[in-house]
Amino acid sequence: MNIQYFEDYNVMSKKAADIVASEIKARETMVLGLPTGSTPLGMYSNLIDMNKAGKIDFSKITTFNLDEYYPIKRNHPQSYYKFMFDNFFCGINIVAENINIPNGEVDDAILESMEYEKKLESAGGLDLMVLGLGPNGHIGFNEPNDSLVSGTHVATLTQSTIEANRRFFNSIDEVPTLALTMGMGSILKAKKILMLASGKNKSEIFKKILEEKIETVNPSSFLHLHRDVIVLTDIEV
Ligand code: GLP
Repeated sequence: MNIQYFEDYNVMSKKAADIVASEIKARETMVLGLPTGSTPLGMYSNLIDMNKAGKIDFSKITTFNLDEYYPIKRNHPQSYYKFMFDNFFCGINIVAENINIPNGEVDDAILESMEYEKKLESAGGLDLMVLGLGPNGHIGFNEPNDSLVSGTHVATLTQSTIEANRRFFNSIDEVPTLALTMGMGSILKAKKILMLASGKNKSEIFKKILEEKIETVNPSSFLHLHRDVIVLTDIEV
């Protein structure tokens, strides 16, 4: 795990965008895994600027989002579908058909999870997966538990995640309790992983990651099993 510390969130975000840009430039087409949350916003804004300046081209990029609440309408103000269009896709020259986000509107969430995983595999798997970090160590919606699920699945949010994400909803009762998420296996199959960790509320979990123990109670610790992980952080430990 290659961990790089930054004093400034904006400098960290620029570095994240530079890493994504160099991966895009290194190949003709690319399958890119993307996260939501407050942390990647700076990276998205930098990538939009680079795209507008003609420095990177998204026209041959296929994206797979990490997760989505369930159930949720795509036009819900807090759906990850809307988040991605508002904060990233609206500003870049990506082809709409190349965007993949788990569908929180379907009746059969298990079927949607299986189909999402299959689609990811038939796209050739992820070249680069960008991740955020949950305050309790969750990755996507892989929550701390006795065991973790490998492929894309329906996950139950922990109370602490519901509370952490409550700030985006009118009330805690509105926060969905389920989600569709890539599993740790889907994520670890990526050729390269870039994790962004930002926020004072994550210093405890970040210290845990540094212990290099693999624990299902800290899903982010599984990233130690991957041979090519870059972590960019502004967290002081
Ligand atoms: C949500 C997402 C995660 C994200 C986490 C952290 O729970 N499902 O993928 O990493 O939030 O969000 P933030 O970056 O806002 O701290």
